[in-house]
Amino acid sequence: MVRYLSTWKRSQFSLLPNPDASRSLAYGENLDYILSKESCQKALNEITSWPEYKVSPLTSLPGLAKQLNLVDVSFKDESKRFNLGSFKALGGAYAVLKFLKTFIEQKDDITVDTDDLRKGLYKNITSTLTVTTATDGNHGRSVAWGAQIFGCKATIYVPASCSPSRIEAIKEHGAKVIQTSLDYDETVRHCVKEAEKNHYQIISDTSWEDYHEVPAQIMQGYSIIAEEALKEYFTRPFRQAIPPSHIFIQAGVGGLAAAIAGYFWAHLGERRPKIVIVEPENAACLYATAAEGTLTKARGDKETGNVHTIMAGLDCGETSPIAWQILSRSADFFMTIPDAITGPTMKLIAASPFNDPVLEAGESSVAGLAALIMTATHEDTREILGLSPDSRILLINSEGIMDQSLFQKMVMENETN
Ligand SMILES: Cc1ncc(COP(=O)(O)O)c(C=O)c1O
Repeated sequence: MVRYLSTWKRSQFSLLPNPDASRSLAYGENLDYILSKESCQKALNEITSWPEYKVSPLTSLPGLAKQLNLVDVSFKDESKRFNLGSFKALGGAYAVLKFLKTFIEQKDDITVDTDDLRKGLYKNITSTLTVTTATDGNHGRSVAWGAQIFGCKATIYVPASCSPSRIEAIKEHGAKVIQTSLDYDETVRHCVKEAEKNHYQIISDTSWEDYHEVPAQIMQGYSIIAEEALKEYFTRPFRQAIPPSHIFIQAGVGGLAAAIAGYFWAHLGERRPKIVIVEPENAACLYATAAEGTLTKARGDKETGNVHTIMAGLDCGETSPIAWQILSRSADFFMTIPDAITGPTMKLIAASPFNDPVLEAGESSVAGLAALIMTATHEDTREILGLSPDSRILLINSEGIMDQSLFQKMVMENETN
């Protein structure tokens, strides 16, 4: 291993094997209300029919794989999804469409075609409706885009920490953006209160008691990432129809991770990859939940208790309960990483020291990669995770560079040696 990777080898992390993981347990009907093969297929049929749809690239990084003594490291690159900069484009817009269709169909007892909605055939109804959500940026942009193309209004609540460029990206789609003085979790509660007061429809990517249908639809939209990836693993000749052995996947409230883990669990059963859930150490709600065995808030910063991380999309202190229902049995490991490793990892992707393809990757995107390098450069964690020269790793580049000034700062400031 070259000197270049010593930054990751030196960094501190926590790794928790999931005591409740069960490889032999079959994906149960009790989880079908969140993700079923049928609901994922429906999302796939709908979303792949949109004119903007394209399969996102699966990009191999052979230079890095060689350095880490692994057979393959591949990045599913969501940075260009629908030109919205992140995988979130698959979820929020789909749920907005589902809401509008159901609303009109129930009202007028008709079947609504997506193209007719886009053409504005139901504008007299849709223009009176407002969708809303709380967001760290990417999900709100997807909801705003859905509202724009399907013809309703959107009011989006963002936390105090949301950057001006993320706010602008939401406004570009015609949405009203309200910045609170709160953190993400309190902004979610604020949004719920405002929605009740103003009769807005909540399109949230996190769930809570009695609110799971919309976040489940959003996860069904995300499952397209797994579907596309698996198809490619099974058709690329060098992979010889073998699925990835490990997926390192970053989590905020857990919706993305659960969609991917649930899809692989439902489709591959015991043959599914090992799933490693990665969170920032100061916003690790899934890690805390796994450690306690019950839904538990993130502990936050050791001194202040504040939940905050530079990885904006992962800046969440509370797990989505429906995501936990899937991950509690299907995730193999929970891991936390420090914010300080974000800059060097963004730089690694941007500078490509091992002559791999260059990807555009934002702060939240690189968490899975950082975790892979940290664990693969230690003999003991390689063994615990079962990483070997035969391992084929799948990572998700979950967002592009959403905040250019932060990207420049982090890449310029971080010297790796
Ligand atoms: C870029 C990015 N990656 C990962 C995540 C995590 O997704 P989830 O909150 O569903 O766990 C988010 C959430 O906003 C995100 O924006």
